[in-house]
Amino acid sequence: MQKTLLAAVSVLSLALAVGASAQNKPDPNLDKFPAGPEKQLLVDACTQCHTLARVAFGNYNSDGWHNAMNMMMNAGAPLSPQQADQLTNYLIKNFPEKPIPPFKQVDGPVKVSIKEWVLPTAGSRPHDPLAAPDGSLWYTGHMGSLIGRLDPKTGKITEYKTKTPVSGPHGLTMDKDGNVWYTGNFKGHIGKLDVKTGQMTEYRTGAARDPHTPLFDKNGILWFTAQNSNMVGRLDPKTGAVKLAVSPTENSAPYAMVFDSKGKLWFSEWQAPKLATVDAETMEIKEYLLPNAGTRPRRIAIDQNDVIWISDYSRGYLGMYDTKTGATKEWPSPGGPRSQPYGITVLNGIVWYNEGSIKPNGLVRFDPKTEKFQTFPVLPSGGGTIRNMMPTADGKGLVLAESGVNRVGIATIQ
Ligand code: HEC
Repeated sequence: MQKTLLAAVSVLSLALAVGASAQNKPDPNLDKFPAGPEKQLLVDACTQCHTLARVAFGNYNSDGWHNAMNMMMNAGAPLSPQQADQLTNYLIKNFPEKPIPPFKQVDGPVKVSIKEWVLPTAGSRPHDPLAAPDGSLWYTGHMGSLIGRLDPKTGKITEYKTKTPVSGPHGLTMDKDGNVWYTGNFKGHIGKLDVKTGQMTEYRTGAARDPHTPLFDKNGILWFTAQNSNMVGRLDPKTGAVKLAVSPTENSAPYAMVFDSKGKLWFSEWQAPKLATVDAETMEIKEYLLPNAGTRPRRIAIDQNDVIWISDYSRGYLGMYDTKTGATKEWPSPGGPRSQPYGITVLNGIVWYNEGSIKPNGLVRFDPKTEKFQTFPVLPSGGGTIRNMMPTADGKGLVLAESGVNRVGIATIQ
């Protein structure tokens, strides 16, 4: 009885998580698909979790369609391998790639070399990367429902399947014992991977049905955002107890998180456009409005001066918010208004982020002292939307999760 109920809740949360359909009226995008047996396959297999807008407005080359179909098969699309091939060829033929804003070269003072590794599970959708102190690179396979570890020295990749299938591992972080914690984005839990035994443990997050980004505070409490649930939460790993707080702004989509030097938690409300803090004791949320109403602060990073750096996804800007003074400033991203700044981090006082919609993706360097940009094309793969990045433990580079090309990468800075 309880199992059935849980299963029902999970399906619902997946449908909600992707903003979905499943109503009885015909899909509004149906007439965009040429008639044929493949159209029926689409209706049967591709409308349960989201509308056909995802398919009709998907902009992929042949490799991209193959990757998208592999991801959907991982997610549970009910197709035989033959039907999947048939549908992939139909999509490649009828939905060729449309022009994409080009990479914009800006020269500057440093050199970057990028090394990439293809991941073993097709369509795993590496979402977030994690650089471990021992030099290994961990990543979440959002669609492959797995946690992966790459040893960059040997190229060996180990995959750990989640306990619950199709749980949508999204963000990940490490505890002080070196265990990996991830958000089960589709199935309302936080997972722990014991790196010594490979054992997984799941902690339910209750009404926060789509946990998104996890981060430990200095007391070992795991904080997390839940985008569609519009919440921020905390999990005590010792007891499994979860506390939740609802964002004061409706549908504000709590997203990225950082701690300032005093240990205060900041997060971005990426549909608001606001930053916010949470009181660790009372869980009271305080919001800070960003100056431009069109800003969509997707990810954030914090520097040594407690200045928050913002990837303004919708406007193609790099933003800044000084947590000490409340001062703000912004700069247009080199790739232009449609470049979709996304993954962002700070390394040795320099801001690094990715322009995720351009081809190839642009890895952007910004020096706050000179306010100068430099850009690097993410090659050879093109990057396929780098949704997150972080500095390597030795401080010499950045780990990258290249979601649309099923690769992870390391950018070494010279
Ligand atoms: C079992 C649920 C499910 C089914 C069935 C399903 N999808 Fe998806 N689809 C998802 C989820 C979940 C996402 C990702 C949502 C997100 O952005 O986090 C997604 C995203 C997509 C995307 C965008 C990918 C990206 O990287 O952003 C495309 C394209 C897509 N689906 C196509 C299809 C096609 C074609 C089918 C039918 C073969 C299909 N989907 C069937 C769950 C499903």
